[in-house]
Amino acid sequence: MTIYANFPEGPVNWERLLAERTNNMKSSAIRELLKITALPDIISFAGGMPAPELFPVREIEEACHHLLHYEPQKALQYSTTEGYRPLREYLAASLAKYGIHHEADNIQITTGSQQALDLLGKTFIDPGATILTGCPTYLGAIQAWRAYQTRFLTVPLDAAGMQVERIEEIIKKDTPRFIYVLPNFHNPAGTTMPAARRRRLVEIARQHDLIIVEDDPYGALRYEKENIIPIAALAPERTIYLGTFSKTMSPGLRIGWIVAPAEIIQRLVMAKQGSDLHSSTFDQMIVNDVAQRGILKVHINKLCAAYKERRDTMVTALKKYWPEDCHWDQPEGGLFLWAQVPPQINTTDFMQTALENKVAYVPGVNFYPYADGGFDAMRLNFSNAQPAMITAGIKRLGVALKKELAT
Ligand SMILES: Cc1ncc(COP(=O)(O)O)c(C=O)c1O
Repeated sequence: MTIYANFPEGPVNWERLLAERTNNMKSSAIRELLKITALPDIISFAGGMPAPELFPVREIEEACHHLLHYEPQKALQYSTTEGYRPLREYLAASLAKYGIHHEADNIQITTGSQQALDLLGKTFIDPGATILTGCPTYLGAIQAWRAYQTRFLTVPLDAAGMQVERIEEIIKKDTPRFIYVLPNFHNPAGTTMPAARRRRLVEIARQHDLIIVEDDPYGALRYEKENIIPIAALAPERTIYLGTFSKTMSPGLRIGWIVAPAEIIQRLVMAKQGSDLHSSTFDQMIVNDVAQRGILKVHINKLCAAYKERRDTMVTALKKYWPEDCHWDQPEGGLFLWAQVPPQINTTDFMQTALENKVAYVPGVNFYPYADGGFDAMRLNFSNAQPAMITAGIKRLGVALKKELAT
């Protein structure tokens, strides 16, 4: 910065030239936190990262060899914005098993689900327009849509996810561009929305002609009970469904997808063209190769067994080491547990103590777009650390919490 200060006219005044929307852009608290938690001796419950030792490395390596040997000219070339056709056909067939019956033409491949969230912002949100979300909500969605100068209408969650029966009261104020829901193993709350509530949400959306964005990165990672019908299966005409291979295969490959009615897909394709032309051809073909060979299904079973063990380890340690008046619900799947501590502890302030004890989590307030809740909550990830580390980390937090409460 300072090296330019020596020019006779002085440094450039960038501020006056920046787009107004940059005022709304904030660096993600989690990305910032991950810089600290990447230090080797920290036990991190902060990120949403899969277990690195479980990545299907050999299978991906085989796919690379195969593709570079047999289809290098395709794999290394530009491709269509909609995405690699065989992968879209695979997705259409596998979503049908969950009751989502859309053609490959209704599927847009994205550079992770995060890009899908951004494309939705670009396509639907005018400055000042509202979107409706449960609260707490996914931090990356807040970050993506803030850049489009949205206003958030928020609906509180309970143990069954977004309290959809409150929506009608809230939309009297304004018609949201869409309703954002995370029905399976909510990030950060860990909740799952039962079928009856999903049906009620669809009824409300139909009555008021609203659209629903169903974000489902964790749906395949269920550790108990039966799958619940997706909202996209209940209301295919008004649901935009988001999926990703980040949690089931590898987040580094950055491959996700959007399922939506054809007229929405056309708009999203145009939005994506200006962004990145298309998602990496090579990565799409790798994902397709691993998925089509049937390896993914086996891999997901392996992940479910490992993550169930880690979730159980975390719950056991919480019961054993944490003060009595803490609260959490056991998630049926996914990667996160939302823990509530006694109200005299502010989890943002307590983070300093946690880091001194070499443990990290994400303070709850970060999941509230207007920072008006979650002060006594924290999000704990249980997929990334191995069981012994989970026990050690939860114990350290428990000891520190008890000490803090005693003072
Ligand atoms: C709810 C939710 N949506 C979207 C994403 C983005 O995932 P990706 O861009 O890796 O596909 C995440 C990642 O943690 C998430 O938890």
